[in-house]
Amino acid sequence: MKTAQIRQKFLDFYASKGHTIEPSASLIPHNDKTLLFVNAGMVPFKDVFSGVEKRPYNRAASCQRCVRAGGKHNDLENVGYTARHHTFFEMLGNFSFGDYFKREAIQYAWEFLTVELRLPKEKFWVSVFEEDDEAEDIWVNEIGFPRNRISRCGAKDNFWQMGDTGPCGPSSEIFYDHGENIAGGPPGHADEDGDRYIEIWNLVFTQYDKQEDGYLKPLAAPCVDTGMGLERLAAVLQHKNNNYDTDGFKTLTKAIVGLTKEDGGIKQDNASVRVIADHIRSTAFMVVDGVIPSNEGRGYVLRRIIRRAIRHGHKIGINKVFFYRLAPVLALELKDAYPELKKALANVEKVLKREEQRFAQTLDQGMGILTAAITQLKGNEIDGETVFKLYDTYGFPADLTADVAREHSLTIDMVGFEIEMTKQRDRARQAGDFKTLQKGVDISEQTQFLGYEQLESSSSVQALIKEGELVEQIEAGEHGIVVLATSSFYAESGGQIGDCGILSNDTVAFVVSNTQKQKSGAFEHHGILNKGILKVGDVLAAVVDKKSRKCIARNHSATHLLHAALRTVLGETVTQKGSLVDSEKLRFDFSHDEVINKVEIDKIEGMVNRKILANTKVHTDVSDIDTAKKKGAVALFGEKYGDTVRVLTMGKDDFSVELCGGTHVNQLGDIGLFRITSEGGVSAGVRRIEAVTGYSAYQFDNQTQDNLNQIAQMTKSSSVQVVEKVAQLIKQQKELEKQIVSMQKQLASNQGDDLVNQAQGVNGVSVLASVVEGVNGKDLRDIVDKLKDKLGSAVIVLAAVSGNKVSLVAGVTKDLTDKYQAGKILNHVAQQVGGKGGGRPDMAQGGGTESSKVDEALASVKGLI
Ligand code: SER
Repeated sequence: MKTAQIRQKFLDFYASKGHTIEPSASLIPHNDKTLLFVNAGMVPFKDVFSGVEKRPYNRAASCQRCVRAGGKHNDLENVGYTARHHTFFEMLGNFSFGDYFKREAIQYAWEFLTVELRLPKEKFWVSVFEEDDEAEDIWVNEIGFPRNRISRCGAKDNFWQMGDTGPCGPSSEIFYDHGENIAGGPPGHADEDGDRYIEIWNLVFTQYDKQEDGYLKPLAAPCVDTGMGLERLAAVLQHKNNNYDTDGFKTLTKAIVGLTKEDGGIKQDNASVRVIADHIRSTAFMVVDGVIPSNEGRGYVLRRIIRRAIRHGHKIGINKVFFYRLAPVLALELKDAYPELKKALANVEKVLKREEQRFAQTLDQGMGILTAAITQLKGNEIDGETVFKLYDTYGFPADLTADVAREHSLTIDMVGFEIEMTKQRDRARQAGDFKTLQKGVDISEQTQFLGYEQLESSSSVQALIKEGELVEQIEAGEHGIVVLATSSFYAESGGQIGDCGILSNDTVAFVVSNTQKQKSGAFEHHGILNKGILKVGDVLAAVVDKKSRKCIARNHSATHLLHAALRTVLGETVTQKGSLVDSEKLRFDFSHDEVINKVEIDKIEGMVNRKILANTKVHTDVSDIDTAKKKGAVALFGEKYGDTVRVLTMGKDDFSVELCGGTHVNQLGDIGLFRITSEGGVSAGVRRIEAVTGYSAYQFDNQTQDNLNQIAQMTKSSSVQVVEKVAQLIKQQKELEKQIVSMQKQLASNQGDDLVNQAQGVNGVSVLASVVEGVNGKDLRDIVDKLKDKLGSAVIVLAAVSGNKVSLVAGVTKDLTDKYQAGKILNHVAQQVGGKGGGRPDMAQGGGTESSKVDEALASVKGLI
């Protein structure tokens, strides 16, 4: 039975059981920001399960296109290496929304497999959740399925979750036995990972809606969500043990082989050919559904898969731009099931081709570097710096490098890679902060600031400055300073940085990167002229960069709230010592003698966020300084204020009242979100808080969440359980360290026993001089002490060697110390290994750096007796 027929048969069967057939939804989930791609047939129905959305039916079936590459269910690294993993696959599924439950779900599935498809009953194996007696009972007593072919498994295998949140529940999986000539065991057995018993159908008894805090919220009515991989079912029905051998893939693998050299010996079952066949399916549909290659999110998953495919093409000797040419082959293969692919074909080809051309420029060089790194590698892990360099300079996604590494039985240092990524982000940030300012010339006229009310204004050029001189004109390409009569640009003061933006008219465009204020009050607009010739007297439209100004306003208003919250939580003694407000963050220095603890930080952050959420209007009054002070305005000590001052009031009951000339949000809710990113001391009695707001705060949280997820992944836990898991790992590590210490002790003591027999009599004195393996200097002392006890009367010198380094300990039993002194003996030996040492007559310690001479040096001890 061809794949297309199987797909249809499934849908027809469930239609006959009263199910509404839904077409495949897009790969981009519409109702879920937590998922990158639709990864199961149930995703488009997620809100129907949770009861948020109502549909005119309560049972449905579909054949849904799915991608599992990135996110919770990620099969990318298995593709090409197993018979049954894909980045893209089609999931056949039937769903009940509070209608039927376990019994019918199992009965329908069994009927479809054994009656409709006429598959032999004895070829199946079934697993159920370990706590689910009901499911087992249905299988055994209602279906008549033999109990000895049912495995009961834990949550890892038989509790299905869409993502970290959302519908989930216990499941029962149906496996097909591909025959005893294939290695592998049934589910729940040690050898279950083989290719003999393949899971084809997962029946999930969806009973919960998992919440963000991990709580399993019971659904109003229990539901059913089943999913069967079309590719796996096709393999069963076409008597193939490998999905890539089914009709759906054969056309593709044939086309790929056709692109390789005729005499190259590449066949359809080559792993790279299979990887490419898989990858054209996922990437083509991603493009159909609107994803384009980029460096983040879905776009990056797409880029990674395309580049991986191209690298595999390169590996099998395809040296031309080839990948996009597979799209029409796929479109033809799936023309009936997915007409949307055929419709979007031109675009798919264009996007794939462009990405391939882009990567082609660096692929060869990158591969050269990677091959060299692998050849020179000591150990079995490619270091993070190399992985990063390949990523940053040659466009190699880390998993592509990992893929190549794996072919050489190597791994990559992901942690090291992440460290390099972080360093690069920091470098980029610093570079962004660095703005060269031109030297100004004093101008006596004051610029009138219009930027509280308007971000665009028109003004004439009062003066132009270039390289510290007043000039009449500036030409395109030149840096300079423009002084205007009026301006919407805020000039740096009170900790708020100067605005950036653009000054232009029909003939000129001057890009402002910073605005400064002279003592006289003239505003200097620093920047570069991009176009035309700018002359004194020209009239320009002055347009402030709105996005940047909005971010600055958020940070500035948040600084006021932070100041007030600090005074509320830590006391009125908190006074401002300095601040910096730019478009990315805010920094606030203040007097406070004590370290601020986590509880206080939480309180402060929480208080600021509550004020933001209350979303009250920000009031600005212009008054004289005395009126302002009466209102309780916080004025900065030592700051000069003019006759009139601006008073900024924020929050209910005048939560914050400050004198301030800066620019602010209109409503506190405009700040969005406030996050403290660091707290610490800067000098005696002065502390500093840095914080972010708005989208930066969101990004900060996102990064934190990413880090957490990565730690969770590395420790094979979930973000909910990660703390417990790390605590457990630390505990384990401590226990292991203890064990190592005790094993070392044991080892040392065993060695001590062996050494007793090596002592030799020299002129009536028992002498022992020997190298001891696998111990450190401290252990040597313990061993010498023990040996002294055991030998009773002896001269002992022991050495431990590590690389070139030699540690030495000498011991002489009390009865012999008037004749032989440990210190002297040790020094004699140590000098011969390029070092020295000394100590008491009965015990001395030292070392050297020429381990090659240690045997000879120890042999010389006898000569001293
Ligand atoms: N959602 C389940 C799965 O993906 C069953 O459809 O396996």
